[in-house]
Amino acid sequence: MLFRNRFLLLLALAALLAFVSLSLQFFHLIPVSTAKNGVSSKSRKRIMPDPVTEPPVTDPIYEALLYCNIPSVAERSMEGHAPHHFKLVSVHVFIRHGDRYPLYVIPKTKRPEIDCTLVANRKPYHPKLEAFVSHMSKGSGASFESPLNSLPLYPNHPLCEMGELTQTGVVQHLQNGQLLRDIYLKKHKLLPNDWSADQLYLETTGKSRTLQSGLALLYGFLPDFDWKKIYFRHQPSALFCSGSCYCPVRNQYLEKEQRRQYLLRLKNSQLEKTYGEMAKIVDVPTKQLRAANPIDSMLCHFCHNVSFPCTRNGCVDMEHFKVIKTHQIEDERERREKKLYLGYSLLGAHPILNQTIGRMQRATEGRKEELFALYSAHDVTLSPVLSALGLSEARFPRFAARLIFELWQDREKPSEHSVRILYNGVDVTFHTSFCQDHHKHSPKPMCPLENLVRFVKRDMFVALGGSGTNYYDACHREGF
Ligand SMILES: *[C@@H]1O[C@H](CO)[C@@H](O)[C@H](O)[C@H]1NC(C)=O
Ligand SMILES: *[C@@H]1O[C@H](CO)[C@@H](O)[C@H](O)[C@H]1NC(C)=O
Repeated sequence: MLFRNRFLLLLALAALLAFVSLSLQFFHLIPVSTAKNGVSSKSRKRIMPDPVTEPPVTDPIYEALLYCNIPSVAERSMEGHAPHHFKLVSVHVFIRHGDRYPLYVIPKTKRPEIDCTLVANRKPYHPKLEAFVSHMSKGSGASFESPLNSLPLYPNHPLCEMGELTQTGVVQHLQNGQLLRDIYLKKHKLLPNDWSADQLYLETTGKSRTLQSGLALLYGFLPDFDWKKIYFRHQPSALFCSGSCYCPVRNQYLEKEQRRQYLLRLKNSQLEKTYGEMAKIVDVPTKQLRAANPIDSMLCHFCHNVSFPCTRNGCVDMEHFKVIKTHQIEDERERREKKLYLGYSLLGAHPILNQTIGRMQRATEGRKEELFALYSAHDVTLSPVLSALGLSEARFPRFAARLIFELWQDREKPSEHSVRILYNGVDVTFHTSFCQDHHKHSPKPMCPLENLVRFVKRDMFVALGGSGTNYYDACHREGF
């Protein structure tokens, strides 16, 4: 099984690289010759790099392309892989919304012209796109907790609004949904034929892009998208911490982490020079340009193959982009080393992980509710969960990223339940801090549920290094 997994991982990677090198050549932003060099030098790069043997990541263009996650043909994935005597009990899916329009404008430039209406004759396309639009345009009835009712059900502006989901974003999640449907419904029969609303648990933040991403995924996933069986709850916090959001120590970790970020930026003279040049081009003070978070807008230009903005003073260009993107990668590397973000993440992710194991434990008791849980969320949701699980080597959540917890029962030993963790289709179960190296002394290709439960109930707090052994104490530690 392990060898098979490795083999499939290699296959998936080969497909990915083939796609990346293809799309690089089509990008008019990148000269063909340098693109080829860029890819071949990185062809050993793995999706979950091995910290011991991997060279440090330094190719900003390669990283940016992964981040865009431009929909391609048939994706390979490892979801649902288990020996025959295992039965799938429940599935818990955390997604980041799909490709969106920037949240910020670069001051004094024309914003990129991207069309957020959904049309069949524009790429990327998905066979369910028209049916999705026609179904959504019929309206939803009472399928949402307030204030979600006021949000549009699909993107629909000829010039995207700030933060709006694009057609690319919709297609990414139709594709995610279809992939999960083939595996979990068709192959593993997770839902019975006469499934009902109780069997789904759906939760989204109050942004149109997360609601719409969730709807697109469900539209690709469910055999019949019946509004009567859909109920989306509203989550006000990007950490999905519901009633347990108050945690002063978490905020202290975050402040220290932000200070670390600031100091790293000051040390990077090339970055400061780049911001200075760009500020001159758009004719605003450097401080104002930096505050406008230009990388967000530049990534949109990059992912949509739209040239960077120009003024009569010159153009923002690929070199500027590379410097800022490279700094982002370095920032993530230092973030891992300094562990302040880890402290923030352990406390930030506890409530949602606690909720998830609660849901899993109810399923192990034979309850048939909430077999499929979907949390439609943001990078600032997925990132702390990944970090808390010990998956610090995982890449920053790309558009339409998916993190999945699968719960399995061994039919030969029905009292034994196990979990698998998958990030963007890659099995990362044995990279987590609660199951590292487990496979070396167990023949089972997954992790005992008890490991995850012990981690969430206790070891998360031990990892924080204080004396707290529960969430409340860890959040209120004095003198931190
Ligand atoms: C990017 O745009 C250029 C022209 O602006 C075009 O020639 C090229 O095919 C486009 N690439 C992709 C991947 O759409
Ligand atoms: C964890 O979940 C249990 C129920 O499963 C709940 O009683 C408890 O309050 C939760 N703790 C936190 C900190 O969310």
